[in-house]
Amino acid sequence: MAIERTLSIIKPDATARNITGKIIDKLESAGLKVVAQKRVKWSTEQAQKFYEVHKERPFYNDLVTFMTSGPIVVQVLEGENAVAKNREVMGATNPKDAAAGTIRAEFAEDIERNSVHGSDSAENAAAEIKLNFSDDEIVG
Ligand code: PPS
Repeated sequence: MAIERTLSIIKPDATARNITGKIIDKLESAGLKVVAQKRVKWSTEQAQKFYEVHKERPFYNDLVTFMTSGPIVVQVLEGENAVAKNREVMGATNPKDAAAGTIRAEFAEDIERNSVHGSDSAENAAAEIKLNFSDDEIVG
């Protein structure tokens, strides 16, 4: 299995509750390595650009407002099959559907305040990483 990288975001609901360490523990326990990490607050323009693929969806404006409502922790995770593994550890988008033991089952508040983002394909991971990190900020 190839070593992959994926983009992870710990969302404002989680930074507000001071549970970033608990979330990182879940990621690391699953075998994912944090090879880049920064705590930032996005502007509206940054959030709009990041979520551009969802711009026609009814929740787009709410999602942008939420993602700019407080600090986030943006990470590059590395490991075998990292994209799929991270999605597995995160759990389903709606915490009501998330499997027991997943990040969203344990920590998410609702479908919007769902604690984490993870790239959904290797192709999107590469684009999302490029949007958030320069090469010299990633240390494997
Ligand atoms: S996914 O993970 O891309 O398959 O999920 P998807 O359902 O396509 O949702 C894309 C992102 O939109 C967020 N979302 C919402 N935000 C606010 N309100 C509602 N109703 C809502 N539904 C979905 C969801 O958390 C995904 O955010 P990210 O950051 O990509 O995980």
